Amino acid sequence: MADASNTIFVLNGPNLNLLGLREPEIYGSQTLDDIAGMLEDRARDHGLTIDMRQTNYEGMLVDWLHEAQAEGAKAVLLNAAAYTHTSIALLDAIKAITTPVVEVHLSDPKTRESFRHLSYVGMAAAATVEGHGADSYLIALDKIASGEISA
Ligand code: DQA
Repeated sequence: MADASNTIFVLNGPNLNLLGLREPEIYGSQTLDDIAGMLEDRARDHGLTIDMRQTNYEGMLVDWLHEAQAEGAKAVLLNAAAYTHTSIALLDAIKAITTPVVEVHLSDPKTRESFRHLSYVGMAAAATVEGHGADSYLIALDKIASGEISA
């Protein structure tokens, strides 16, 4: 089994490949590649490595959560995007693994449409960081690096 004990999986769900173009008044002008670069720089400072991924498919996120556990990743940052609000499969996957999962959102879904107020991911996540734009990812990474969140 590969040793990924210093690796943070950063898993991004549907439509996040369009960041920068997509509703910039809500999600900002940074692309997912920009966020990956910011995370890599911050992770290096902490002696950690980022494995950044994006998919538009729910089951792929489930598979990647299982992979995080199987590979011994230190933690997962998960922006499941709209699946946050619909996916019992993601809730079950987070509960099925011992790898800590931090829920991340650029916007603050709790202040938006009522259908975004329910978070299945949040029911099992170790913590949630939302509403800070791209910085939400950095804040979540810092929480893991500081040991505030651990398995
Ligand atoms: C989001 C919030 C979700 O409600 C939405 O479906 C997204 C992005 C965010 O990062 O703010 O796609 O997860």
